[in-house]
Amino acid sequence: MSEPKFPKHLISINDLQKEHINQVLTLSEDLKAKKRSNLCLQGKLLATLFFEPSTRTRLSFEAAIKKLGGSVISEIDQSSSASAKGESFSDSIKISSLYSDAIVLRHPHEGSAKLASEISDVPIINAGDGSNEHPTQTLLDLFSIQESMGAIDGLNVAFVGDLKHGRTVHSLAKALSHYDVRLYFISPSNLMLPDQIAYELSIKGVKYSFHKSYDEVIDKLDILYMTRLQQERLDIKTEVTPYCLKLSDLSKAKKHLRVLHPLPRVDELDTKIDATDHAYYFQQAQNGLYVRQALLLKLLSNQNTMQGLVNDQTNTFSLSHT
Ligand code: CP
Repeated sequence: MSEPKFPKHLISINDLQKEHINQVLTLSEDLKAKKRSNLCLQGKLLATLFFEPSTRTRLSFEAAIKKLGGSVISEIDQSSSASAKGESFSDSIKISSLYSDAIVLRHPHEGSAKLASEISDVPIINAGDGSNEHPTQTLLDLFSIQESMGAIDGLNVAFVGDLKHGRTVHSLAKALSHYDVRLYFISPSNLMLPDQIAYELSIKGVKYSFHKSYDEVIDKLDILYMTRLQQERLDIKTEVTPYCLKLSDLSKAKKHLRVLHPLPRVDELDTKIDATDHAYYFQQAQNGLYVRQALLLKLLSNQNTMQGLVNDQTNTFSLSHT
């Protein structure tokens, strides 16, 4: 049976069927194991447009395309772009799409990536749109969960922190609805998971519960997904009780519990955990490279403009045969 065609754009994790996710995870595993050195995107140009700060997402996308033989144009300082002269977001996207084969976009406004996809002739990859979604982070999170646990089905996964504004939480919770998992959402009452996402999980039959403290569930967990307080999205009047995961908090945890964090971390994750087997967040960040390589290969193989997917030996390789 043929594999489902990849969508043109990646705006929400819901744009991907489980088969698409599996394709990305399998290809990422091969790339990490250096089994697919024949794949390349030579001559292809990725535009990275970041209207918000980033380290991991931008650098790993840029490393990903460059390691596949492609190149990058980047706009990260809006004060030196035509936006500073009043150019509209729509015009900036239109122009960028004329110069590139795909655009990786991060923007503070929810819905910006969707709007860009309606303007751009080339694929838009959502690298975070406000509090909404961060689907490429989800792919590397899934990869890291599968890599560290051997499988995703059967796991108990807890999300901790600012679940209201955490876009990585929103996308990952949605993606986990494809699997047989039990979810725990741990947050202050004013930073709970949005109702809409809880509703989506209910519709899909996912088992979940809400908690105020990880002490209530720590001994049950396989994955503890910590998140940062999204200070940049908080109302100035919002009072919050921040979490800080300390090494001693893990004393009752299962030996194989893995702590994930999309990073950057601020105060919510004690650096003393870094040296323990529980810490998996640096491997998680590194996995972003392989997962974004896989994603670029999959997304760009759909495009007529992309003739760069070649087998070094035969020049006849097609990703549809993977
Ligand atoms: N995880 C993540 O999105 O990190 P950056 O903000 O550094 O890109």
